[in-house]
Amino acid sequence: MCPLIELKTVSTVYEGAKVPSIKNITLRIQPGEFITIVGPNGAGKTTLLETINGLLPSEGVITVGDMNLKTDGTRIRKRIGYVPQEFICDSLTPFIVEDVVMMGRYGKIGLFKSPTRKDRYIVQEAMLFLSVDVLRRTPVGKLSGGQLQKVMIARALASEPEMLLLDEPFSNLDMKSRSELAEKLTTLNENGLTILMVIHDRSSIPPACRRIITMEQGKIVSDKHFKVMP
Ligand SMILES: Nc1ncnc2c1ncn2[C@@H]1O[C@H](COP(=O)(O)OP(=O)(O)OP(=O)(O)O)[C@@H](O)[C@H]1O
Ligand SMILES: [Mg+2]
Repeated sequence: MCPLIELKTVSTVYEGAKVPSIKNITLRIQPGEFITIVGPNGAGKTTLLETINGLLPSEGVITVGDMNLKTDGTRIRKRIGYVPQEFICDSLTPFIVEDVVMMGRYGKIGLFKSPTRKDRYIVQEAMLFLSVDVLRRTPVGKLSGGQLQKVMIARALASEPEMLLLDEPFSNLDMKSRSELAEKLTTLNENGLTILMVIHDRSSIPPACRRIITMEQGKIVSDKHFKVMP
């Protein structure tokens, strides 16, 4: 099968840094995979996700299907739903939840066009799926960390991505919300969505995840496939 995403000897060095934060990463991600990346603080997990999403200049080759990140970055980003580890959100920000989830549609709607009925429907479904529809009129600056995390996942889903990149999606969630999100991710993956997720705590790995990659000091030190979760 052709990989959805392929990295060949990819390294990323932050501006001014002496050493690369990820080094010679080679990785193939098949369509429909559910992969979890684990590793200690500073291992390069966030750097890897940001590099795949084209947010950091890197060495090596990254392809998504037949597109190359260096020449097709904008088109590739439209195929990826990226939910970062941290969100900068001013408490005075005027946007309400519904607007922020609609931002996920902007890539599809196009500049200077208004959302259609279909766009509104997709936004509504994404908010319902993440159980944030009750917050639809709440300004995002007034949300709790966990609520904001769910809204940002809803925004990523509203873009109807082929692949979700999730950086610590459980970090602000209580136990109940964690297991609910794990179930939702499982459902999405069963419906064909490819998921690449970074987490700290191995106990949060959903059973649907069949591949665990461990990173240390910018490198992949283990890449294990499971038929069923150990
Ligand atoms: N903006 C930056 N500028 C310079 N160096 C950075 C920057 N962001 C991260 N680094 C460095 O890159 C390395 C990898 O960081 P990264 O954030 O990818 O780790 P991580 O595995 O996501 O860690 P955590 O579990 O704490 O989120 C670290 O040594 C870090 O100091
Ligand atoms: Mg990180």
